[in-house]
Amino acid sequence: MVRWLAMFTLALANQKGGTGKTTVCVNVAAGLVRANQRVLVIDLDPQGNATVSLGLRVQPEQPTTAEFLLGQVRLEEVMVDSYLGDLSVIPATPDLAHAELEMAGQPKSQFFLRRALQRYQEVLSGFDFLLIDCPPSLSLLTVNGLCASQGVIVPVLCDYLSLEGLSHLLETLEQLRRKLNPHLEILGILPNMVDYRLRLTEESLQLLKERFKDLLFQTEVRTCSRLRESPSFGKAIFDYARSSVAAENYTSLVREVRQRMKKLTGRTDSEGREGVVSKK
Ligand SMILES: Nc1ncnc2c1ncn2[C@@H]1O[C@H](COP(=O)(O)OP(=O)(O)OP(=O)(O)O)[C@@H](O)[C@H]1O
Ligand SMILES: [Mg+2]
Repeated sequence: MVRWLAMFTLALANQKGGTGKTTVCVNVAAGLVRANQRVLVIDLDPQGNATVSLGLRVQPEQPTTAEFLLGQVRLEEVMVDSYLGDLSVIPATPDLAHAELEMAGQPKSQFFLRRALQRYQEVLSGFDFLLIDCPPSLSLLTVNGLCASQGVIVPVLCDYLSLEGLSHLLETLEQLRRKLNPHLEILGILPNMVDYRLRLTEESLQLLKERFKDLLFQTEVRTCSRLRESPSFGKAIFDYARSSVAAENYTSLVREVRQRMKKLTGRTDSEGREGVVSKK
């Protein structure tokens, strides 16, 4: 029986690069904080993009996801505060790639993250959401992210190659569910960087709707240059361009994420926090 860690643990995954995993992770996290949720972001990508996007700079001696995964540091030592009070981060640097090599070949290497987190039930019970930003591959790190999660959000672009890759990803998720984590559900497929000026967009969206039906989020995130700019200011969209289309899209996405998680787990989040025994 898996005892879940925070109330809702969600991975952002797609083996295709640049579909918006990190952007969605950071902005959904910030949106959840605006909705009075306490959030922990785990940067599980050696690129460290989520870390930087939240305005964090990792000092040379500072512990990161790498040491945490390998059980060399405690959660309290590795977790840092972001500029948002209720948003903490386990930061990543390129060292994470070395940790992955170290993990590979060891027994039950898919469960390093889950095991590391399970040691800190008490600290983690202070969070409402855990969001895990996975790298652009189906590597051991991504598998670790998915094995520690109850839900996965898959951001996709509306182009041919992205849709091609999506079927492959969904098959892999199904296999992972069967073999490693029966609790994992696809929370939703999110059309990202939607641009109706492109002819392919409507066609692709239509295809996604026909093929994936309710699995597709109702919310679409439009292409918005403000989202491209915000990481260099270390701010989420709500704090960088609060009246942008993207801020509006992310507000709606956060609402939908919360609704879907409640439906999926049959649990309420901190608005009705009693009875949230983290068992599934
Ligand atoms: N809705 C959007 N409109 C415009 N640009 C966007 C949008 N969403 C993301 N971007 C930009 O697209 C690029 C890729 O996004 P992001 O880094 O979030 O993707 P990713 O899937 O995490 O990439 P990787 O696979 O490398 O981890 C970034 O420059 C980001 O700022
Ligand atoms: Mg990324």
